[in-house]
Parts: sequence; structure tokens; C-alpha cells
Amino acid sequence: MSYTVSQLLTQDITFQPIEIKGWVRTFRANRFIALNDGSTINNIQCVVDFENTDEAILKRITTGAAVHIKGELAESQGKGQKVEIQVSSIEILGDSDPESYPIQPKKHTFEFLRENAHLRTRTNTFSAVMRLRSALSFAIHGYFNDNGFYHVHTPIITGSDAEGAGEMFRVSTLDAKNPPLNEDGSVNYKEDFFGKETNLTVSGQLEAETFAMSLGKVYTFGPTFRAENSNTSRHLAEFWMIEPEVAFMDLSGNMDLAEDFMKSVLGYVLEHNREDLEFLEKRLLDEEKTKPQAERSDMSLIDKIKFVVDNNFKRVSYTEAIDILKNSKPNKKKKFNYIIEEWGADLQSEHERFLVEKHFKCPVILFDYPANIKAFYMRLNEDGKTVRAMDILFPGIGEMVGGSQREERLEVLIEKMKALDIPEEELWWYLDLRKYGTAVHSGFGLGFERLVMFATGMSNIRDVIPYPRTPQNAEF
Ligand code: 4AD
Ligand code: MG
Repeated sequence: MSYTVSQLLTQDITFQPIEIKGWVRTFRANRFIALNDGSTINNIQCVVDFENTDEAILKRITTGAAVHIKGELAESQGKGQKVEIQVSSIEILGDSDPESYPIQPKKHTFEFLRENAHLRTRTNTFSAVMRLRSALSFAIHGYFNDNGFYHVHTPIITGSDAEGAGEMFRVSTLDAKNPPLNEDGSVNYKEDFFGKETNLTVSGQLEAETFAMSLGKVYTFGPTFRAENSNTSRHLAEFWMIEPEVAFMDLSGNMDLAEDFMKSVLGYVLEHNREDLEFLEKRLLDEEKTKPQAERSDMSLIDKIKFVVDNNFKRVSYTEAIDILKNSKPNKKKKFNYIIEEWGADLQSEHERFLVEKHFKCPVILFDYPANIKAFYMRLNEDGKTVRAMDILFPGIGEMVGGSQREERLEVLIEKMKALDIPEEELWWYLDLRKYGTAVHSGFGLGFERLVMFATGMSNIRDVIPYPRTPQNAEF
């Protein structure tokens, strides 16, 4: 019978002989194969009877080769494993040239592995990260399903700029060299595929709102695209976002939902992905040893996740946060790149990290931001200058979630759009929600890769998505 490595290592196997297919990690002393098939971080040791195996076959058992092994599962004599396979026959399914195979059995830098992203999931680190990514995705759908949410597939190609930030990728079939022009020389998009300008979506929120205002509780979990030219370890041009949207829920309910949701999905991986987490925890410890003492974390990866699961997020208004920042040491000593002078300042990631890592030392929900630094759709507070926005900041990551209670009052929304030059004709359908049965509603967006970064302890967002898209880079 055929098994996976995970099954062989964790289940009671009674049917013998067994069969397995996988890739050779190492082959030692012409005798011991460490075999991995992606089902677990662990390899299974396969012991080859080299005296009775063809010399030509032995030569082809090299790192990276795909093999089909038949044999008996036996108690292992060696240290570090309970069972091993006594190989009775081995077939080479796919050879690997040991000279040129990029994934040698040694430490590679993450930069090198990014250039070989098509093979990097053959390493322990990247296979563990991608299994965790998969588990988190599953847990997210599970959470919403258990809590009465419907999954909506919002469009990828859209005619509106949900965030109003203008950082969009155009979708067009016009001839870039010779586009049809209007009389004034501008491109005539009426002749484009959709008869108007279209882009890849930056967020599924606006369409999700229409579903919340009919199905009640919904969420999207899809790819989003942003053409921001920020080459940081936390930004991708293509990333995945989870956006729940709930009718009749206000900002405080939104905070409760976000906190419960994040605790639940992180709790899921603590329970189901222990071995991968333990591996990544060790990796992180090794990495931290190379850093100066002051930059090392005082908590291990699993402790950090547990801390988030077990403790309440701190809820702090923007106004309180500004006071804390104004009086902080790095602000007074001008250590911040952007000094906080007064209320109204936009927070940079250095400020967010100060708040979560130095001041509160726990996840923080900042709320009630100045209206003019947030998107047009957020509900204006009675003070006339702040909106019911919330950002959730995480230690080591910065902003993980952005959300708000939505402006449900037609006149106020129209006023706001006018002030920002957002044409009413473009969002007529969005305004209709405020004309017909409007109600308080709220939602948020969680950057999936940032969550995976937190759960895996990886410090570069390029290393938690299969094939990162960043400025000047769309290989694979
Ligand atoms: O704060 P943002 O821009 O919020 C929205 O898009 C809202 N429409 C969400 C909503 O209310 N439904 O983005 C949400 C989250 C951020 O907090 C961050 O975690 C992530 O998306 N994010 C990115 N992740 C990776 N690369 C980028 N370039 C990102 N931009 C935002
Ligand atoms: Mg944001």
C-alpha cells in the first residue's frame, strides 16, 4: 500500500510491505536516504541494501531525485527516528543532477532561494511556511463558515478605486503603441474592451458591502493589487486580503470580530501545525543569535502566538496615541524620521511599531482617526473631524488590519465624495445602498501575508507568498 511520510511517521501501519514516493533530501554512506514528500517537515529514513542494489541505480540516488520505494516499515536502530524503511526495491522516477541542483543540503540565503522560488519549497523552511499558509487559509474559511458568514467572490477587474489612493494597475486590450485618441489627445477608453477605464482591484470592500446589505454577514478572500512603488519587507504588488463585512454592526462590534477572528485562526495553527511551528521557532532562534542583544525578541515564536491568542488587544484612540507619541523618548530626542508635532499627523510605521513593540507590548487597535487621512467611505463621528476607522497593529509587523464603520448616511457620503472629487456616476450603485434600506454596517481588511509573517516568524513578506510580485519583479 502507498503512504505519505506523514502517515508512516504518525500512524500505526499494519499492512506490509509499504510503498512511498518522494524526493531525496540526502543520501549517506551509499545506504541511508532521507526522503521527503512535502506531507510533513520530517524526513523518513530509507535504508538501502547496497550489496543487492545495482551500482548504476545507487549512483542515481542523488539530492533532489524523485524516487519510488517499496519495502518494510521497521523500528529504527538509529537515533532521531522511531521507524525507518528497509528498502526492497527502488525506482528512480526522475534524476537530479547533483552538480547543478540549486537546493544543496546546506544553508542557503533567502535571497538565493527567492531567485529559485520554483524549488524553494523543497527546503524545510519554505515547506513549513507554505503548509502554515495553507492551514491559515483553511482556518479562515472555517471561522467564517462556523460563524454564519457567506463567502463572496468579488470582482478582480473593476472600474472603481475603492481606497481612492490611485495606485492601480490598468487592465486594457488597447494597443499601447497606438491607442485610439479623443479629440483632446487623451486615450479614448470607450474603445477599450469594457468601454471604460478598468483596473485590477485594490479591495473587494465596496462590492462586499452590497452583499452585506442583503446577505447580512459576508467575507471576501481574494487577490488584491496595488501599484505602490514601495520596496519594503511588508508590501507586495499582489497580495491576498480577507475582508468581512457585516450589516447592523458598529465599530465596536468590528473590533470584537477582528480580535476574535485573529485569535481563532492563530489558535488553529497552534493546535494543528505544531511540528512546523517548532521548526520555524528554532530557525528564528538561530537567526536571532546573529543579531545584537538589543534587537532580539524576548519571546519565542510559539510564545508570541500564544500571547496574542490569550491576551486582549489594547484599544486606543488616535488622539491618545498621538499624546503618547508626542511625549515619547524617540520623538523628543528626534530619533523618529517623522517627528510627531501635532494632532492630525499620519502615523508612519516607525510610530506604529513604537506603540506596539515599546509602549504597549501587545497588539493594539487604534481607532477614531482624523477624517482627512482615511478613505472616503468611513463614517464621520459627531465631532466632525474624526472617522470611525480602526487599524490593528501587531508587534514585528505593524499594520495587520485596516477597517471601519461605513458612512451609511447618503448626504454625508455625497458631501465627502464631492470634497474628494469622486464622481457620483462611478459609484451610483454604492450610493444606492444608502438610498434603499441603509443601515449601520462595518468591516475590515486583513492582509493575509502579514498574518502568515506573524505566524511563521518570517521577516520578509516575499518569503510567505509562493511567487512574490514586487516592483521590477514578476519572475515565475
Ligand atoms: O488598510 P487597507 O488599505 O484597507 C482596505 O483596503 C480596506 N478596503 C479594507 C476593508 O475595510 N475591507 O488594507 C488592508 C490590509 C492592511 O492592513 C495590510 O495588512 C494589507 O491589507 N495590505 C498589504 N499587504 C501587503 N502588501 C501591500 N501592498 C498591502 N497593502 C495593504
Ligand atoms: Mg490601511
